[in-house]
Formats: sequence, structure tokens, C-alpha cells
Amino acid sequence: TDLNAFISGLPKAELHLHIEGSLEPEQMFAFAKRNGVSIPFASVEEVRAAYAFSNLQDFLDIYYAGADVLRTEADFHDLAFAYFQRAAADSVRHAEIFFDPQTHTDRGIPFGVVADGLLAGMARAEAELGVTSKLILCFLRHLDEDAAFDTLKAAEPWLDRIVGVGLDSSEVGHPPSKFQRVFARARDMGLKLCAHAGEEGPPEYVREALDLLRIDRMDHGNRSMEDEALIARLAAERMTLTVCPLSNLKLCVVTDLKDHPVPEMLRRGLHVTLNSDDPAYFGGYVNDNYRALAEAVGLSREDVVRVARNSFEGAFLSDAEKAARL
Ligand code: HPA
Ligand code: ZN
Repeated sequence: TDLNAFISGLPKAELHLHIEGSLEPEQMFAFAKRNGVSIPFASVEEVRAAYAFSNLQDFLDIYYAGADVLRTEADFHDLAFAYFQRAAADSVRHAEIFFDPQTHTDRGIPFGVVADGLLAGMARAEAELGVTSKLILCFLRHLDEDAAFDTLKAAEPWLDRIVGVGLDSSEVGHPPSKFQRVFARARDMGLKLCAHAGEEGPPEYVREALDLLRIDRMDHGNRSMEDEALIARLAAERMTLTVCPLSNLKLCVVTDLKDHPVPEMLRRGLHVTLNSDDPAYFGGYVNDNYRALAEAVGLSREDVVRVARNSFEGAFLSDAEKAARL
């Protein structure tokens, strides 16, 4: 359709992308082979068939298992560069990518192997594809705050190349309050702050992310829509929400894309962006997310333009940098 073609060519930023979640099954086999790692699947088809999730934890179990094929700096470089090639094909001009260092350091992969590999892939993407990017270190919320502090310490030599910190993994039972001290430290160090909130967790977790973590950007935020005062506050504070429609569908955060909260979020003046989250696991990259949602809920061209503009406005870039990317 006309709108699909318009979406394809529209310059956009992607602000919610877990680089480990861009590991396509074909790459999983290639990395397993070159590293001599065995994986519990016989074929790419078998891997894809396993990607039927009924909630966040179902997905996380398989996502952390998949990450075990990533061993060398070259693996992280290749993973990142392959993502940027797909992003460039979707007219993504700028991406702010999450990585989960604890998933790797807890398997004995040094922090520097992960960070240097990703940073090399990012530098190559800027030089060869013209896609700029920033790196965001996520703390795993199912682990304790001391482990997050250890990770921040391990990251110290790289902090001039890391724009901020995030909070991901199993949400329910691991409220933002658990990480209040490490987020305060990160803020003191000049890092930007984001957190996954309101994906499965209640509106109270969204409030904690705002009041206790003092986040600059909110990942997901869907369940904010259950709380009128919270909606008004997010609008008044111009908080950017990094919404991920195909992720929400695959993780059963919504049962049908037709019921997705984005139209209501836009009506209420929230600063919505659309993103792919873990594209290799959820069945689509950023344009697939724009297209599937636009078709399901009937977004207009103006809605789509607004969302793309929000993606640059919500980026951790200076005003001059934002203008240059548009
Ligand atoms: N939610 C929480 N943790 C995650 C996600 C997500 O959507 N993707 C990767 N880690
Ligand atoms: Zn996410």
C-alpha cells in the first residue's frame, strides 16, 4: 500500500533494540559452528518453531540460551553489524542499542570482549552505512543490585562510549525500587537512564521508575494506560515511551494488535515511538512493527510521521545531532 511504501522510506530512529535479540537462527547456527558450541536444535525451522511464547519469562529462557553461542569479539561485531544492515534497509538513521553484559560476564566472557566487539560494529555501521548509534548497558533485574554495581564497575573503562543504563529481564517481582541506588550512581556519573516498566508489571512500577529511578526514557510503558493520573503525568513530562508492538503480541502483553494501546497513547498526547525489541525472536524489524500496527489499528500518515519524529526527539542526541539525522 501507499502507507507501507511511505513507512519504508521514512527516516527513523530505533530506541528499543536488544542486540542479543537480533540474533537470527541462521546466525545462531553459524556462530555455534565456528565456536564449537552445541545448541539444542537440529535446524533453523526447529528454532523458529520454538519461538512460541506465552509470556516474558518463556521468551527470556530461550533468549538467554541463544546468547550462549556468542563468544568472541568478532561474534559481537558481526551481530551488531548485521543488525545495522537490516536497520539501514528500514531507513533507520540512528539506533540506541541495549546490551546485557551480565548474560555474558556470568558465562566467563569478559566485559571488554562484548563492548569492544559491539563498538567496532557500531563504528563500521556509521562509516559504511551512515547509521549512527549509541550503546546502553542494561542491568538484569532478576539479579541483585550488588551485581548491577559490579557491572557498572566493570564498565568503567568504557563509560565514555556508553550513553546510558537500562533495566530489563523479568519484571514482575523485580520492581524499579530494587535498583534505586545503582541508578542514582549512574546518574551521578552522567549517564542517561531508562528502564523497562509496565510491560507486565503494574502502573506502580512505572511510578517507581519515574520517582525512584528518575528515568529519562521509558521502555514499553503499556500498563501506564490503566492509570489516568499516570497518563496525564507522562504527557505533561513529555516522557518518551519506546513501544514494541510485535513484541507485545508475541509475549501476550496484548492478545490482538487491534487492541494495542498506541492509538489511545497518541490521543492522550504521549510521546510514543515504535521499535522492534528483539526482532529475531518476535518476527519483525522496525518497519514491520510500523506496518503491522498501522494496518491493525488504522494509523494515518500523520500518526506515522509523529511517531518517527518522536523517535528523534526522544534520542539521547544533542539538538544539532537530531537535526542532522532527520
Ligand atoms: N523485556 C524485558 N527484558 C527483555 C526484553 C523485554 O522485552 N527483551 C530482552 N530483554
Ligand atoms: Zn526490551
